[in-house]
Amino acid sequence: MAETRAMSTQTETPQSAKFHAMTEGTQEDWSIIAGHSIELFMGLPERLLTHLRLLDGDFGGFAVDRLTHSLQTATRAYRANRDDEYVFCALVHDIGDTLGPSNHADVAAAIVKPFVSEQNHFMVEKHALFQGYYFFHYLGLDRDAREKYRGHEWFDYTAEFCAEYDQPAFDPAYDTLPLEHFEPLVRAQLATAKYSMYNRPSGKTFSANAG
Ligand SMILES: [Fe+2]
Ligand SMILES: [Fe+2]
Repeated sequence: MAETRAMSTQTETPQSAKFHAMTEGTQEDWSIIAGHSIELFMGLPERLLTHLRLLDGDFGGFAVDRLTHSLQTATRAYRANRDDEYVFCALVHDIGDTLGPSNHADVAAAIVKPFVSEQNHFMVEKHALFQGYYFFHYLGLDRDAREKYRGHEWFDYTAEFCAEYDQPAFDPAYDTLPLEHFEPLVRAQLATAKYSMYNRPSGKTFSANAG
C-alpha cells in the first residue's frame, strides 16, 4: 500500500526535484524549481489583492475599515496625479496590519521593495513613524519621533504622503474608488521585480513575462 502511494505521488508530480538535501541538487533539479518559481511569481498580484481584502470590515475603532482607508489613501494620491508606483504604494501601505500589528510598515515595505524606487520604499517603511505625528501624543508617545529623520533627503517626501493622503483617509463620506479600479495598476506594478537578489548579473530581471 505504501509502495502504491509512493508511486502514485511520483506520477502526480513528475516535475519535482530529486534532491532531499540541497547539497544533492543538480542543474536539472533547479531548472524544474525555477520553472515553478515563475508560476509563484505570477500569482503574486492575486495573492496581494486577496490579502488586501482581508482588511475589509476591519474597523479597529476607526470611522472606516482598513480596506476603505487603504483605498481612500490610494484614491487621494491617484486624484492628485501621483504616478502609478506612488499610487500602488499608497494602496498597500497598511497591508501589514493583519500580520504585523506591531510593525505593519515593515511588512508593507518588504513586499514593495523589489518593485519600487528606494525613495518610495523609504516612504512606505517610515510612514508609520511619520504618521505618528498626528496621534502619538494621545497614546503617551512622542509625536515628534520622526524628527530623528529630519534632514534626510526623503523626510519631506514621506511627511507629505502622511499629510496629503494617509492621515485624511478616514472619511466615510469621501468618494473612494473600489479595489477593482486599482487591480490593473497592481498587476502592472508587480509584473517585474526590478530590485531582486534573484535577478541575474546579466541584468535580466525576474519578470512575470520571463520563461
Ligand atoms: Fe500605516
Ligand atoms: Fe494608513
